[in-house]
Amino acid sequence: MTIESVEAPEQAVAPDPALGVVVEELTVRLTVNGVEHEQRVEPRLSLADLLRDRLRLTGTKLGCEHGMCGACTVLLDGAAVRSCLVLAVQADSHEVRTVEGLTTGTDLNGLQASFREHHALQCGFCTSGFLMSATALLEQHPSPEEAQVREAFGGNLCRCTGYATIVDAVLDVTHRAAHDAAHDGAAARAAAERTGS
Ligand code: FES
Ligand code: FES
Repeated sequence: MTIESVEAPEQAVAPDPALGVVVEELTVRLTVNGVEHEQRVEPRLSLADLLRDRLRLTGTKLGCEHGMCGACTVLLDGAAVRSCLVLAVQADSHEVRTVEGLTTGTDLNGLQASFREHHALQCGFCTSGFLMSATALLEQHPSPEEAQVREAFGGNLCRCTGYATIVDAVLDVTHRAAHDAAHDGAAARAAAERTGS
C-alpha cells in the first residue's frame, strides 16, 4: 500500500478570519478502498467532505447533511455509517469503504448488477447509500430475511423508486448466491463420486 497525500484546496484549510481564531489542523491517516491517505484537516471537517472534496470520491452523495437521508452512507470498519455525521478525525486509523470500492475496473459486482436488473434506481442519487447499507448487511448476514433487509435500509431514503425493487434486488442476489453455492456443492460431489474419492 502507498500513502497518497492529496493536496488540500487552499480555502478548505485556511483559518476563517470572520471567527477571529486560527483553527488548528490535525493530521488524519486513514485507509479508503484499500489505499492509505494522509490529510491535514480542521477538526470540523466531515468524513463526507473529506471523501468528496479532498479525495474526489464523489460517489458518496450529500443530501440532507443531517443524518436523515442516508445518501452519504459509507462503511467504517465494515459498519454502515452516515459520513455527514462522522468527523474526518474520527476516521483516523480506520478503514473506510465507499461505493467506488465495491468493484475494480468497470464491471459491476453482483449487488450492483442486481440493482440494475431490478430497476432499483431512477435518478441514482440515493443508490450508493443503499448499496453500502446492503453491503454491510450482506457481510454480516449473507442470507437475510426480507425484514432484515428493510431494517438495514431504515436510514436510507429514496424519493424515486419506492423501496420494493431495492429490497428485491438485495434478496435476489442472496438467492443467486445460495443457488450457486448449492450448484457448486453438487458439482463437487459428482466429481468426487466419479473419481471414487
Ligand atoms: S447527507 Fe448524510 S444522512 Fe443525508
Ligand atoms: S433513485 Fe432517485 S432518490 Fe433514489
